[in-house]
Amino acid sequence: MSDHRPAKEADLDRFAALAPVWSSGGEALSQARRTLSVLGFQQGQSLLDVAAGTGVILAALHSLGLTPGRYLAVDISAPMLEELRRSFPEAETLCADFELPFSAPAGYDHILIYNSIPHFTDLEMLFANAGRNLLPGGTFMIAHSRTREGLSEHHRRIGHIPRHTPIPPDAELARLAAKYRLIHVLSADDDFFYFSCQRP
Ligand SMILES: C[S@@+](CC[C@H](N)C(=O)[O-])C[C@H]1O[C@@H](n2cnc3c(N)ncnc32)[C@H](O)[C@@H]1O
Repeated sequence: MSDHRPAKEADLDRFAALAPVWSSGGEALSQARRTLSVLGFQQGQSLLDVAAGTGVILAALHSLGLTPGRYLAVDISAPMLEELRRSFPEAETLCADFELPFSAPAGYDHILIYNSIPHFTDLEMLFANAGRNLLPGGTFMIAHSRTREGLSEHHRRIGHIPRHTPIPPDAELARLAAKYRLIHVLSADDDFFYFSCQRP
């Protein structure tokens, strides 16, 4: 039977159920480390971890011996953030929908949306929020541990039919970066997917 409730509400239930078993270790951890290395995260820099889930990015930072100067985990799912705080009681978290206008009290060196882009439909708002919350010279990165093809293959395997293109085309991401005056666009879809741009 299909689920006729609004998509976001159904997703919230799904994430609440997944939170206690969501992995932040093993392969997930090494994939997150790989993303941080492409992001170029350095000791003491600040990070806005959007759709942070149970904190795999924070776990990867810790495992690399890197301590962010400031870190904020934003997620729409309170149970996901509860799990994150169970592992990292000192972490600052905020339960919020990043598809609504978002303004943090101070800007960030890095804003990262990791393994979560398939859950977002309002890309305009993502770029508007990123542009608004980056420090000058700061980087906005959207990354996924699978490539576009790898993710499609995964979806076929589990019988999931996405409601929209899970990882948007580079041209669409580049158009939005330009619209929100973000420069130095980089993207790759070889071992894993990433798209990054910077505030001038
Ligand atoms: C597949 S999980 C990935 C979590 C984490 N980044 C990781 O790699 O383990 C997707 C996350 O996106 C969050 N999410 C989905 N839509 C969101 C939104 N509109 N605003 C903030 N978080 C959202 C979910 O609650 C969930 O924790």
